[in-house]
Amino acid sequence: MAAEQTPIAPIHEFAPAKVNLYLHVTGRREDGYHLLDSLVMFADVGDQITIAPSDILTLDHAGPFGGSLPDPADNLIMRAAMALRDMHGISADAHLTLTKNLPVASGIGGGSTDAAAALRGLCQLWDIDPTSTEVMDLALSLGADVPVCLRGRSTIMRGIGEDFTDVDDCPRTHAILVNPGVGVSTPSVFKARSGDFSSPVDWEACHGETLAERLGSTRNDLEPPAVSLSSVIADVLSALTDCEGVQLARMSGSGATCFGLFPSKEAAQAAATQLIHAHPDWWATATIFGP
Ligand code: C5P
Repeated sequence: MAAEQTPIAPIHEFAPAKVNLYLHVTGRREDGYHLLDSLVMFADVGDQITIAPSDILTLDHAGPFGGSLPDPADNLIMRAAMALRDMHGISADAHLTLTKNLPVASGIGGGSTDAAAALRGLCQLWDIDPTSTEVMDLALSLGADVPVCLRGRSTIMRGIGEDFTDVDDCPRTHAILVNPGVGVSTPSVFKARSGDFSSPVDWEACHGETLAERLGSTRNDLEPPAVSLSSVIADVLSALTDCEGVQLARMSGSGATCFGLFPSKEAAQAAATQLIHAHPDWWATATIFGP
């Protein structure tokens, strides 16, 4: 009698929100892409991807923000899956389910962290090394933020998003993420940036008791252009600054999501509750930024 094949269990991958604690724009390449210097950390909130073997490649959406996603065929997850499959000559396919808990087009990774989680899960399913140069190059070809999300740990990111220095001395920090419900276009924000380029940060020379203190001499250079395109971001920053106990209020990535750093879980939760109460149309959540 032929032995029965054990069905392969679905793979579950967490796609954490990516946060740019600081982001300096240090130059621009001839192809128009900007050179960045950014401390990236990951939150304990994010999207969820489930991957199961299948005869055809498909993607379903669920979750609070699942309805705001474009056509699955255009989704970065599908592009990631097709590129990985073709690159490794894989004949199998997979059914992916994305539970979208994070707001879309919001400066906290969104499509990039989802694509990175899909790559991690599919590499496991298809027995591919996710840290190989080929997979990292594929990640960069999908978007400048995908490689850092594939690494998934606190990192100083330079270049356009391909040069990494691991950071081991960033403590777990209580925070909130706040999004005012507007999507901001990343290319438009970069285009609206003006003025001189910034110097990179010497992170080792940034001293302080808390992460907020260490970030004191840094900024997000994309904040002014993002605010010029979407003034509600200034309202979010101002509301965050007014929260009791806030140590630092700043925008992440190209916006519109902003974050606040807090000394305790209680202070972060109180601030999130206060903001949701005052602005029922905003999304706000307490979280932890971790190493
Ligand atoms: O790579 P990604 O698709 O995320 O980038 C979207 C757009 O943002 C790019 O087409 C470019 O206009 C801008 N961008 C940039 N420099 C970066 C990352 C993104 O100018 N390092």
